[in-house]
Amino acid sequence: MNQTEERKREHVQIALKKNVAAHHNYWDDVELIHNALPEINEKDITMSTQLFGKTLEYPIIISGMTGGYSEGKKINENLAAAAAHFRIGMGVGSQRAALENQKLVDTYKIIKEYDIPLKIANIGASQMVLWDKKKILENAATMVEMIDADVLAVCLNFLQEAIQPEGEAHAKGCLETIDMLSREFSRPIIIKESGAGICGKVAAQLKKTKIAGIDVGGAGGTSFSAVEYYRAKMKGDTYNIRAGQTFWDWGIPTPSCILDVGKATNWEIPIIATGGIRHGLDVAKALVLGAHAAGIAHALLEPALKDTKAVNLEIDMITRELRTAMFLVGADSLDKLSNAEVNYEPTG
Ligand SMILES: Cc1cc2nc3c(=O)[nH]c(=O)nc-3n(C[C@H](O)[C@H](O)[C@H](O)COP(=O)(O)O)c2cc1C
Repeated sequence: MNQTEERKREHVQIALKKNVAAHHNYWDDVELIHNALPEINEKDITMSTQLFGKTLEYPIIISGMTGGYSEGKKINENLAAAAAHFRIGMGVGSQRAALENQKLVDTYKIIKEYDIPLKIANIGASQMVLWDKKKILENAATMVEMIDADVLAVCLNFLQEAIQPEGEAHAKGCLETIDMLSREFSRPIIIKESGAGICGKVAAQLKKTKIAGIDVGGAGGTSFSAVEYYRAKMKGDTYNIRAGQTFWDWGIPTPSCILDVGKATNWEIPIIATGGIRHGLDVAKALVLGAHAAGIAHALLEPALKDTKAVNLEIDMITRELRTAMFLVGADSLDKLSNAEVNYEPTG
């Protein structure tokens, strides 16, 4: 197992065995207002939506987590079978490992065998900025082809890169690269944070490009500073042990990201709300605040290591909770849900 494979394995194992959550989950600060007279029948509620030209049965995306090491294949397969079953979207983890080592292509490619309505390829921005234009476009095509992706996510994960013992904190030229890719690549590009969030100022910069969507990836859920803290501890890396603790809760709360990004882009760019979504009520809260879909990672990791049945069970609960929340605010469609009453006061 090379260094990249080892790192991928450690990320999954740490996320499973240690508490890597931010100290405060900001979805607890969002309150949907109960409607005592909903005037709809629960059975009439529909949850289907269109995202990037694809129809999803539920406004849910399984966020990219893995691939690039042997067990990653099984995790991706269990998630893919569930995504196909529920007709929801699915991303894979960074595909850089497969670009560097052909033997690892399988660990991502497996999802091609499932009829998933929206598949999302993934690459870190800090890797991409080091390539020239020709290589960026070639690699993007290879990654999309690998999983037959409908969309390519470019991941901004500078918090992680800054804390990771072997991190690559290259951010210079990132916006220009995103702009080029969004104009010249054959598939839609989405920009995805992975736990530190996207603010209004960055969203306004991104709006000038031709990107198709923003996954705000805000704070409140999995903290990559926490994940890297545990890795640094395993390696005896004193500075990153310290930095991992210092930056554990760094980032913009996911609910705030939705509001800031929405305002900065006139709500013209679809928003995926990832970061701390635990259940269907959190999904409902994200949609009321203005997201088009919610992204879920950590809550599906443990079931994904087990089997597809376990993932199906979890997603079934989440969709049923979403239905219940919609009923209790009197919304029988996602359009109506977006107009439900909500209070949000960030604390923490
Ligand atoms: C084990 C693990 C590995 C991840 N790897 C990636 C990755 O390779 N690329 C990426 O864009 N996001 C990655 N993520 C981030 C998730 O997609 C998501 O943005 C983040 O975990 C926040 O969602 P959560 O609070 O539901 O976990 C990973 C998350 C986990 C838990």
